[in-house]
Amino acid sequence: MKVLAFGASNSKNSINQQLALYAAKQIKGGEVSLIDINDFEMPIFSEDREKELGSPQQAQQFFKAIGEADVVVISFAEHNGSYTAAYKNLFDWTSRIDMKVFQNKSVIMLATSPGPGGASSVLGAAQGSAPYFAADVKGALSLASFYDNFDLEKGAVTDETFNQQLLDIVETL
Ligand SMILES: Cc1cc2nc3c(=O)[nH]c(=O)nc-3n(C[C@H](O)[C@H](O)[C@H](O)COP(=O)(O)O)c2cc1C
Repeated sequence: MKVLAFGASNSKNSINQQLALYAAKQIKGGEVSLIDINDFEMPIFSEDREKELGSPQQAQQFFKAIGEADVVVISFAEHNGSYTAAYKNLFDWTSRIDMKVFQNKSVIMLATSPGPGGASSVLGAAQGSAPYFAADVKGALSLASFYDNFDLEKGAVTDETFNQQLLDIVETL
């Protein structure tokens, strides 16, 4: 099973990238490909720029990477209650190739932040809009207070409730 994992953040040491990788590794027999959305950076989307540039190669590559996966694991970082500008920009460009960005793939949606809210607002937004973008969401989980619930050295979640919920989602794949 090919698993595409990424944090929806352009932070160098993204906690969401770490969570996405950990979750992807829980998929038995999964061949995990971890991407960094920094490698897909493009000018800020506008319809005028689109007329100038067409569909940039980075958006095409991102769309292709999803297309080649069986499962997509995303962990959303939250900026001011919503998506990071970096992810939203990538998503907007990609949605112009095909609004079905997720191409009916199985998707596990996660989110985390250092605070008690665990980026649950952005997770709710992503989950709510998923059907419009052809994401077959198998489950959505937020990890609150990341630094209390994640062992940075082991790269693993220590919160047992979260881990059990994650395993339950993984078993549906
Ligand atoms: C501009 C900005 C806005 C933020 N807004 C939120 C927020 O609305 N909710 C939240 O839980 N954390 C917020 N944070 C804190 C992020 O959750 C924190 O920086 C986290 O590390 C981001 O995830 P990442 O490491 O994967 O990039 C914000 C951080 C920044 C820089």
